[in-house]
Amino acid sequence: MKMKMAITGKGGVGKTTFSAIMSKIYAEEGYNVLAVDADPDPNLALALGFPKEIADEIVPISEMKKLVAERTNSTPGSFGKMFKINPKVDDIPERYCKEYKGVRLLTMGTVDTGGTGCFCPENVLLKKLTSHLMLQNKDIVIMDMEAGIEHLGRGTAQGVDVFIVVVEPGIRSIQTFKHVKKLAKDIGIEKIFVVANKIRNKADEEFVLENVDEKECLGFIHYSDTVGSSDRVNQSPYDSNEETVKEVKNIKQKLEMGVF
Ligand SMILES: Nc1ncnc2c1ncn2[C@@H]1O[C@H](COP(=O)(O)OP(=O)(O)OP(=O)(O)O)[C@@H](O)[C@H]1O
Ligand SMILES: [Mg+2]
Repeated sequence: MKMKMAITGKGGVGKTTFSAIMSKIYAEEGYNVLAVDADPDPNLALALGFPKEIADEIVPISEMKKLVAERTNSTPGSFGKMFKINPKVDDIPERYCKEYKGVRLLTMGTVDTGGTGCFCPENVLLKKLTSHLMLQNKDIVIMDMEAGIEHLGRGTAQGVDVFIVVVEPGIRSIQTFKHVKKLAKDIGIEKIFVVANKIRNKADEEFVLENVDEKECLGFIHYSDTVGSSDRVNQSPYDSNEETVKEVKNIKQKLEMGVF
């Protein structure tokens, strides 16, 4: 089985928590997992349980000035000059990812665009790399993104097998889901699902199902004090609560049934 999934949703809903647990479950099953931290404020390494010394050493691809310059044939900081728009990226995942307990992690970083669609060497490299990750023939790719999918080009988005929008029982994160769904439809993506996180009771589940079609909802993850505190003690949520991992395994099973 091969699967490329992009995880999105409103800020703070649990995208990174969910991405990390999914990555670890697939790795434990023996899959070749590439976790991609595509959030401008990267913290997937810690959620995957990377020791802090290793996590602290990670330099996002967009900040590797030499690499960006070399691949795009540009001079650092030379905005507006000519550069290569089709940089070589196929060796980057292997060379620059960090591995911990069977999960390889690639941290993308971000480009300070001051608006969308910046046409600068860093952005060109990141875009090409993202589409390479989605279109290549790898087992499991799990991309932890910032909210929205505007930053994914049409071609890249179509390499994604499934978009998962994490919501919590509240209207704001569900609004984000509806927005993402519309954007996805606009570019011809049909496979878009919801995972409802931080569920505390039946009323929370009902609230989600009043707002999200049951067929779209892959399942619920309950609020867990130990998952919450794993963030404070710098432990992977995967190691913090067996029940939560079980819930994510059920979601994974439903996802695989829905995608294939
Ligand atoms: N099921 C849960 N139970 C308790 N706490 C949770 C749960 N899921 C996530 N959290 C906590 O909520 C906070 C936000 O989670 P996380 O970082 O995964 O969200 P995010 O969507 O990736 O946030 P951001 O938008 O900042 O990237 C963290 O402190 C995390 O430990
Ligand atoms: Mg996050």
